[in-house]
Amino acid sequence: MPMQKKFEVLPLAYPYNALEPYIDAETVRIHHDNHYKTYVDRLNAALENYPMYQSWSLERLLKNIGALPPEIQTAVKNNGGGAYNHGLYFSIMGPPQNKMPEGKLKNAIDQAFGSFDAFQQEFGKSALDQFGSGYAWLVAGRDGRLFIKNTANQDTVLPLGFCPVILIDVWEHAYYLKYQYRRADYIKNWFNVVDWDKAGLQYDGCLKKPF
Ligand SMILES: [Fe+2]
Repeated sequence: MPMQKKFEVLPLAYPYNALEPYIDAETVRIHHDNHYKTYVDRLNAALENYPMYQSWSLERLLKNIGALPPEIQTAVKNNGGGAYNHGLYFSIMGPPQNKMPEGKLKNAIDQAFGSFDAFQQEFGKSALDQFGSGYAWLVAGRDGRLFIKNTANQDTVLPLGFCPVILIDVWEHAYYLKYQYRRADYIKNWFNVVDWDKAGLQYDGCLKKPF
């Protein structure tokens, strides 16, 4: 029997404590090494007996959930979504740098929201208003226009036809150790650890690939 091709946890590009004082090392460690890894492990378990889908990318799986065998659709949606969302979340953060969006991403943010400040306010409000667990996203449409979207649980924006630029995890596990119930403080501080260079690359990718 051929070996199973497994999805993998993307390693952190920075030490656990690199996001301090905004996100504490313990939260990053548990969130990345336990929560994120569990989604990846469960996705691999769901696909264990379905070798033909192991070669699909996460994006392809999540955009085509309805094409999968019914008995694994929910597991792939939830755990594939968890794997995808956490991979992106950890990759678009980095040590605080006091940077802002530049180039095409800056222009698109100004066009869509008026200014970077106005974008942060609208995005923060959207993240705060997400009822229960989920995410707030900055996404690009096919023409490169930017929108803010929310998803619940581990849903992604991929089946909606949007290309993700950044996202914030507002599950309690993302902030509870340091912030307890104070989601608003976590969101406000989170902007300090967004790596806008990475976000810019993500947006450039959205403009290049047909979505
Ligand atoms: Fe999470």
